[in-house]
Amino acid sequence: MTDMMNNKHVRVVVRTRPTTRFASQAIEIIPDKNIVNIHVPKPEDAGFINNQQSDWSFKFDKLLHNVSQDAVYEECGTPIVRSLLDGYNGTLLAYGQTGAGKTFTMTGATENYRHRGMIPRAISQVFKEIQARPQYAYTIRISYLEIYNENMIDLLAPVGQSADMAVVEDKNGCYVKGLSQVIATNEEETLNLLFEGETARSVGDHALNRSSSRSHTVFTIHLESKSRVDSSDDVIFSKLNLVDLAGSERLAKTASSGKTLKEAMFINKSLTFLEQVIIALADKKRDHVPYRQSRLTNVLRDSLGGNCNTLMIANIWGEADHLEETISTLRFATRMSCVTNEPVVNVQYDPMTLVKKQEREIKELRQELAMYDTLIGRSHVQYEPFTDGQKAELAKRVRAWFDGTDDEIEIVTLRQVKEIMNVFKGMYLQWAQGGDRCELPKAGGATGPATAGGMERDISAALEEEDGVGETEGMGFSIGVAPVSGPNGRRKVINKKAPPAAKKEPFVPNAASRQSSTSFVYGSSPAPTTGTTGSGGDDAGHSPGGSPEVQGASRFGDQGAMGPVGIPALQPLPPIPARAKPDRNEEFETFKRGPGKDLAQALIENKRILRDKKRALVDLTARVTTLKASITDLKTAVARDRDQALQADTEHDPALYSAPIPADVQAKLDSLATLKADAKRHLEAVAQTKSELEYAARVVDTCRERLVREFDAWYLQVYCDAPAPAGVGEARPTSVAERRTAAAAAAAAVAGMTTDASVADPLDLAEQFDLMLNDKLMEDPASYSYYAALKRRQRRGAKPQARTLM
Ligand SMILES: Nc1ncnc2c1ncn2[C@@H]1O[C@H](COP(=O)(O)OP(=O)(O)O)[C@@H](O)[C@H]1O
Ligand SMILES: [Mg+2]
Repeated sequence: MTDMMNNKHVRVVVRTRPTTRFASQAIEIIPDKNIVNIHVPKPEDAGFINNQQSDWSFKFDKLLHNVSQDAVYEECGTPIVRSLLDGYNGTLLAYGQTGAGKTFTMTGATENYRHRGMIPRAISQVFKEIQARPQYAYTIRISYLEIYNENMIDLLAPVGQSADMAVVEDKNGCYVKGLSQVIATNEEETLNLLFEGETARSVGDHALNRSSSRSHTVFTIHLESKSRVDSSDDVIFSKLNLVDLAGSERLAKTASSGKTLKEAMFINKSLTFLEQVIIALADKKRDHVPYRQSRLTNVLRDSLGGNCNTLMIANIWGEADHLEETISTLRFATRMSCVTNEPVVNVQYDPMTLVKKQEREIKELRQELAMYDTLIGRSHVQYEPFTDGQKAELAKRVRAWFDGTDDEIEIVTLRQVKEIMNVFKGMYLQWAQGGDRCELPKAGGATGPATAGGMERDISAALEEEDGVGETEGMGFSIGVAPVSGPNGRRKVINKKAPPAAKKEPFVPNAASRQSSTSFVYGSSPAPTTGTTGSGGDDAGHSPGGSPEVQGASRFGDQGAMGPVGIPALQPLPPIPARAKPDRNEEFETFKRGPGKDLAQALIENKRILRDKKRALVDLTARVTTLKASITDLKTAVARDRDQALQADTEHDPALYSAPIPADVQAKLDSLATLKADAKRHLEAVAQTKSELEYAARVVDTCRERLVREFDAWYLQVYCDAPAPAGVGEARPTSVAERRTAAAAAAAAVAGMTTDASVADPLDLAEQFDLMLNDKLMEDPASYSYYAALKRRQRRGAKPQARTLM
């Protein structure tokens, strides 16, 4: 790295303008030690109390006394330009009073090649360095700015096209917005730009009647470099500011009036601010640097201290007349040399190459993960994006999970989770748009919408766990078609309750009971089994199996009142934008007469079956009571006959004991046996009917719950513009107009059906309670847990009631 890099402070080089009138008595130059000593003789009239300082000693990084442009460039230009090519920002400032040689130093005398200054030499070196570094691709842009009386002038702007400029700062550093940055591809082009700018400057001087020494100029070489060979995606941006400052002479010396005074004040201010900035930069304790006080400091804010190489050439004019300015310049230069810089390479990233780099990194990380998985024995983990085929396969598995045919989807990667979420989303959207119902989840009685339906499903599942009866499978429910995954525990309980006589044709609501003739209608049933056995006894009137009402229930199923897959085909109602929601109880009635008609009828039918079972049980119980009474009567009669016979046997005739039983007594005994057998059958029937009754009560509960749930879904859909519940309706209007027409038609149909006694089934207490709970849930879904628990408690409480209704 260059010397420049090793210097942490701003380098200050003092250059003297050659003159034959050098004030050698006052100025002592010690070039070897880079020291300038100044001795100012005290004025003789000042007397002995004159305590003004008269001797100064200044030490700098380099003292260039009467040296050539070559030597100056070698000392100041070469390292800073090399740093520029390495990616470091640089600033080279020429400071000093007017006539001290700043412009000569920076631009040089254009008429003589040997006298060319730092700028043309820097340009030349930049292109030479570029040629020497073919492994990098460079882009060079040039800007040339003049600051005059705090105004910024774009010296490279096409005539009359100077834009508004402002100093802005972003993550790439600070720059002058609106200032031309002209791409230059070779030394000549770049020099042309320099001269073009010089011309523009002199034209401006002439037009404005000003001296070029009254303005600051900043010639900037912007460099962008990128490796051609390295796989690195770094793009390095660097810039070199070559600053020819306005004359630093103090106001007093050029004191005048009008325009000159104004110029002097601006120069004075900007250089004062430059000095303040430099002092602030030199003071490590200060965290605020007042860059914004002047255009100059603002433009150079990222080039005076911090991460760049800064070098100041202090030009002094070593004549006695300019001693004061020389001292002032040297003092300023000394302060400048205290500023510490820590140059860093300005590496930025090209977005495209950055993307490539990150892609490469991702690939490597995936490989690493795959290796890790192999090591720990996980071989099927997928980190690559899912292909369409894999997505379809995953979607299938998700549906299987919904249907309950797949217990679990093993989660292996975040990507897989995201894909699953996408499947859910796709299903939901399809559902919301009324797409193919077959694509929808079918399990868990998923007939409600995603909102309330989800909660209802959970509630339902919880209740089913409690109840152990039936299953809200999409396939509907009927006795004889037990749920595939129905709770076994519950089955056992029912089996225990079944009387021994049930061995013949036991009433067991599980798979073994498929032969049972009892069919409850739960929403619907896939071709419910018709009564075929019913061999509970010869008392067909009391036999559950042979009861005509039960067969009626079967017919109900056979009549095709239910949908083919067991879900009542609710008539679809399209969403209507939220509006005043009518009374839910009234709407429940509407629902039961309209879209929920089949389900309502199923509920009514099941309730009817329940009532009939209760009646049958009452009848059976009464019959048992009658039989028991008859048996008791007969027993009494037989006992009476026996007593009479015993009383008649006063002789204790042994022949009496071997004599045949009198016919009338035998008849009584036969009757007694028959009655006992009949009573036994009836008792068995009572036990079986009790089981059926219990089961019927549960089916009614479940059916009611489903009706309410589907009503909620429907209500949400109609009045809250929620998505249509899955499985509700086969043919669905697509357009809004169609949906509204369908809504109107449904309403009209309902209105016309109000006299339909078949569905006139007022809310019972349980239905009202369910409706109330669902209302609450819709008001505040967060209350789900509370109400689910409440509902469960209510259901628990309701169960014994239902059982004791008999
Ligand atoms: N090192 C030098 N060698 C020869 N001539 C110089 C040198 N420095 C300055 N001059 C001459 O002095 C004059 C004033 O210099 P200039 O660079 O215009 O001063 P400034 O820009 O500081 O006002 C010019 O004519 C210039 O040629
Ligand atoms: Mg000048």
